[in-house]
Amino acid sequence: MNREDFPMLKKDIIYLDNGATTFKPQSVINAIANYYINYCANAHRGDYNISFKVDQEYENARDAVKDFINAQKREEIIFTNGATNSLNMIATGFFANNIELGDEIIITKSEHASNVLPWFRIAKNNNAVIKYIELDDNHHVTLENLQKIITPKTKIIALAHITNVIGDIRPIKQICALAHQNNIFVVVDGAQSIAHMPIDVQDLDCDFFCFSAHKMCGPTGVGVLYGKKELLEAMEPADMGGGMNESFNNENEVLLKSLPARLEAGTPNIAGVIGLHAAIDYLQAINMHNIYEYEVKLREYLVDKLSKISHVDIINLNSKTGIVAFNIDGVFSQDVAYYLNRYNICVRSGSHCAKILNDETKVKNTIRISLYFYNTYEEIDKLVDLLSDKQKIINEMF
Ligand code: ALA
Repeated sequence: MNREDFPMLKKDIIYLDNGATTFKPQSVINAIANYYINYCANAHRGDYNISFKVDQEYENARDAVKDFINAQKREEIIFTNGATNSLNMIATGFFANNIELGDEIIITKSEHASNVLPWFRIAKNNNAVIKYIELDDNHHVTLENLQKIITPKTKIIALAHITNVIGDIRPIKQICALAHQNNIFVVVDGAQSIAHMPIDVQDLDCDFFCFSAHKMCGPTGVGVLYGKKELLEAMEPADMGGGMNESFNNENEVLLKSLPARLEAGTPNIAGVIGLHAAIDYLQAINMHNIYEYEVKLREYLVDKLSKISHVDIINLNSKTGIVAFNIDGVFSQDVAYYLNRYNICVRSGSHCAKILNDETKVKNTIRISLYFYNTYEEIDKLVDLLSDKQKIINEMF
């Protein structure tokens, strides 16, 4: 599907690490190059034609993101340098001032570090309490288990939409409904969902939603913080500086701009934002429903084949996304990754930044395949073929 659009797919590799980052289509690369070649200027600062063009392209990108996730208002889209940055902005800019002694923050043990460590810091600084939703036998979140740990002190539920190792899709819409009945905020780490399924933040009714461009065919170093307008208005800017203030004087009096500028201090990643817009156009042309359906079929094909190999132990058999985590009985996951690398197959091994997940799975490291729409059944056949002979793996892993 559309493989010819990706320069990296013309190389002799099989890339199965799309949860880490995705390849970029030529249209995204061209959009970035076009900015640097044809209208390179700063944003929101110049009074000449190429800077007007930059302003227009930058703000068009905001509209494109708004439509892509169906936000209600364009001011609810803040450009950041990635999902990690967005989550930290929420924790320190919004919740640091709102969390009090004994307040509870609910997460799970299957979250990525980016959706754990900002909350650990808030909990430590504000004497709040971290609570973990008990996961079911598939390591999935259930509403029943969430309901069990909500108390009048619960302030935040912060969850990945899709987790980066288990690959489960959380029932965010139902979680938001339950949370809001109890005056709890919901923060969604959408890093692993944005590229793989349609997202509608109004339908989900989440308070915040974060993602990175590089996991959705866009460039590195740019991401999005979506928040409901009244919440973003109450947020303390992470950075003070140019572009976000209306005026200041020598009495330390500062008048800040309104959203979205007040949360985007300094020269933004203009090329990145323009590249993100091109990535959205590219994905929309394929259609997010089609992407999701294709990936699920590809996953079923992979899981079906891997399940037939007796020395393969799949950790997340029942997830419905393109993430498959497994181990080869008695072989260290990184050795398997090195072995596959000999055959130009790229997979990730280790804990994948989900460093407390092993409390749940009792498995410290895994090999992770993360699929995307440009992966093929033939690529999976090659992978499975290489994994089917355990002695060959052992002989060739060093
Ligand atoms: N969060 C990225 C991953 O899961 C880096 O691989």
